[in-house]
Amino acid sequence: MKLTYHIITYGCQMNTADSEEMAQPLKDRGFLATGDIEQADVVLMNTCTVRDQAEHRAKSNLGRLREWKAANPDRILIVAGCAASRWGDSIQKRYPYIDLVSPATQIENFPTVVEQVLKERWDGKIESARHFEDATLTPANTAAPSTELFGDANTAYITIMRGCNYSCSYCIVPQVRGREVYRPLDQILANVRAKVAEGFSEVMLLGQTVNSYFSRGGEEARRQERDTSSLPRDLASSRPLDFADLLRAVNDIPGVERIRFMSPHPRHMRDRVIEAMRDCTKVCRHIHLPVQSGSDKLLAQMKRLYTAAEYRKIVNKLRAAMPGLLVTTDLIVGYPGETEQDLEDSLELMREIRFDGLFAFKYSPRPGTASAEEVDDVPADVKEARLQTVLALNRSIVQMRTENHGFSINNR
Ligand code: 5AD
Ligand code: SF4
Repeated sequence: MKLTYHIITYGCQMNTADSEEMAQPLKDRGFLATGDIEQADVVLMNTCTVRDQAEHRAKSNLGRLREWKAANPDRILIVAGCAASRWGDSIQKRYPYIDLVSPATQIENFPTVVEQVLKERWDGKIESARHFEDATLTPANTAAPSTELFGDANTAYITIMRGCNYSCSYCIVPQVRGREVYRPLDQILANVRAKVAEGFSEVMLLGQTVNSYFSRGGEEARRQERDTSSLPRDLASSRPLDFADLLRAVNDIPGVERIRFMSPHPRHMRDRVIEAMRDCTKVCRHIHLPVQSGSDKLLAQMKRLYTAAEYRKIVNKLRAAMPGLLVTTDLIVGYPGETEQDLEDSLELMREIRFDGLFAFKYSPRPGTASAEEVDDVPADVKEARLQTVLALNRSIVQMRTENHGFSINNR
């Protein structure tokens, strides 16, 4: 009997990478990926909680899966990811046909946990699924990246760190993904080489604040009793290594043609990293550097740890080092206390920097975050109007550029 799985991914590229990682134990078991949910024996829904709407979409889809499950109660429904972290067991109370809830922080344990569920539920069937290891896989239905600046089917997503040590007032990520944990450098490099061997030519290095990466390199590998011979000689020592070292090491891997990364934090956009970007010819001339606001008052309230002038300075340095660099960003409108003047500060920053693309979001209060304690005082229609103002300005900036590679996305 042929067993199949179907993956639904919401949210960011980190989630796309996590979905791939969670699919691995199923693939190892000989399961086939299917794009058709009606054919699937296992559905894995990887959720996002960054804005209220992302949760809503997942929940309404969970409602629809009731029938899928009722059609064959042997089917297995797994809910994973960031919203699963926030919901905890309560989601199983509301949708009792969910078989497993696996929070984003538990991704390392996922193979063990899923194995347990499969064993309990289907002992005999799994053995027979192994006979299908050679069959042709149909691509799993993971979220398609929105533009090729953010990768495409030839991009290997490589998670280099998880979690976030910042405490931006609006953001739920530190709560649901925990503190920063960095993957050891030798493992990342081995992972990149394996992806190249599979035929990928582009890698996207992923982390919540990807440029805060830190590693003890050789010392760490030796302590964990791994072979360090595959580490470049200068990285096998015990000096602390950072994102700049990682970029250079990935750049040296034969077969890698393009390197992208997401998302850097402006605070960690140090000169060393800018120099590494400049020197590494495979690093794409694009940076997605979320600014969130152009108002110093709001940046302080958001605890972004930089001013608009400091952000501008970083972009100027980047552009001076790499002429023609594309710069894209994220911007929030309607944050508590946002005035017309604050909005004007954001528009002014946009006019000055002339972003090549921008994701604009209406502020959405997330339970348990610092800003959820503040009154969400910008009325819904004002938020919507401000969002449209930002998007219209971005469109006109992008249209004025000679090369029209910009985009403007309203993904509330
Ligand atoms: N409300 C609106 N937008 C948010 N983002 C993160 N949290 C919120 C929130 N509570 C946006 C930020 C971030 C992007 C991934 O999502 O702009 O960079
Ligand atoms: Fe990604 Fe954040 Fe959404 Fe989680 S909450 S999927 S980390 S955007």
